[in-house]
Amino acid sequence: MRTQVVIIGGGPAGLLLGQLLQRQGIDTVLLERHSREYVLARIRAGVLEAGLVDLLHQAGVGERMQRNGLRHEEIYLAHSNRGFRIDFRQLCDSAVMVYGQTELTLDLYQARDAMNATMLHQVDQVEIHGADTDKPRVSFIHDGREQNFECDFIAGCDGFHGVSRNSVPADQRTLFERVYPLGWLGVLSRTPPVSDELIYASHARGFALCSMRSPGLSRYYIQVALEDSVQQWPDEAFWRELKRRIPHDAAESIVSGDSIEKSIAPLRSFVAEPMRWGRLFLCGDAAHIVPPTGAKGLNLAASDVYYLWRALSQYYEDGDEQDIDNYSAMALSRVWKAERFSWSMTNLLHRFPEQSQFDLRMQQAQLDYLESSRAAQTALAENYLGLPY
Ligand code: FAD
Ligand code: DHB
Repeated sequence: MRTQVVIIGGGPAGLLLGQLLQRQGIDTVLLERHSREYVLARIRAGVLEAGLVDLLHQAGVGERMQRNGLRHEEIYLAHSNRGFRIDFRQLCDSAVMVYGQTELTLDLYQARDAMNATMLHQVDQVEIHGADTDKPRVSFIHDGREQNFECDFIAGCDGFHGVSRNSVPADQRTLFERVYPLGWLGVLSRTPPVSDELIYASHARGFALCSMRSPGLSRYYIQVALEDSVQQWPDEAFWRELKRRIPHDAAESIVSGDSIEKSIAPLRSFVAEPMRWGRLFLCGDAAHIVPPTGAKGLNLAASDVYYLWRALSQYYEDGDEQDIDNYSAMALSRVWKAERFSWSMTNLLHRFPEQSQFDLRMQQAQLDYLESSRAAQTALAENYLGLPY
């Protein structure tokens, strides 16, 4: 069988790339390891930059997000029972959109269904062949049968644990990594959010974040030890700990309830360079991971998709390979800036096991500076809102 672009991975990166390409008449086949139900049940990111919001509109899938998404024009940074706002509208005249990754994924699945574009779930043993030749091919097992797709290009959108990145020979790539000695325990609950705005809280007991998905659905996180398990955190223990770390008035007004999802995610910074090997392109978490502080993971996947979409449509329009050759450098330039921002927000707001008194004073001084300086707030806002692409 043959197609123009094989997309490995049916997460947001693969689905969005497929949607943008198909709408331009470029044929894609999308291969996903898990079932659709499994992918749609994974609770992950929630904050969309304006750039991603625009891209979803361009892809023709922005309607439900526009209706149900929550526009946020500020965030609240709390520390030691007090805090201050970063006002995005005043500082940068822009905003972010709170809309769950699961909703966005559902919109993209439905759009792909409507276009009748090929999408195979529960594929196994995906292998990439000849990515450094003119005749790349992807083989896999589906419904118990080995199948093959020949193609022009392969988009590796299969996340951090996928096969694409490891298909690049070890001597052709460089990996950069920092693993943080902490995790985020996340809870989703059918309760009204404690506040209209997101609260990022630095506290002696560790970081906490109050977020949301809708007026009746809250998403909260607390920093935990990397070794902790979900079983160690029954709901009552979670709520008690969250309330201790956020300002008193928020703690008093918070509505707790049963968790409907609870998971622990490790914090990691990771980049694989380059993001292209021959006719294979890495896109999204397959190429890079950021710690979640600052909500950049999903948004970074979106900017990769944008660069790759432009490069491939340019190629199919007039055979011009310039943007294909530039893909890795353009994507990485933005990736490293988002890595820097996520790393700095993580360092600013968390407590670390080996932290000295000096380190704590540095965090405090940084927070004080942020509170008092419009320039510092503007820099934070510019990065949180998303650098242009
Ligand atoms: P993914 O969403 O990982 O999608 C990759 C897809 O490829 C998956 O569906 C996977 O099943 C499939 N796949 C993998 N291997 C294969 C294979 N061999 N063959 C076929 N298919 C394969 N970001 C935030 O901004 N805020 C958050 O709160 C946040 N929380 C997160 C929590 C967790 C537990 C994780 C893992 C990530 C979180 N992120 C968060 C990051 C954000 O969700 C990701 O950056 C985003 O999902 C990246 O999209 P992607 O499509 O590149 O990768
Ligand atoms: C959410 C996650 C983040 O990492 C973040 O910085 C803000 C919000 C969320 O899941 O809602």
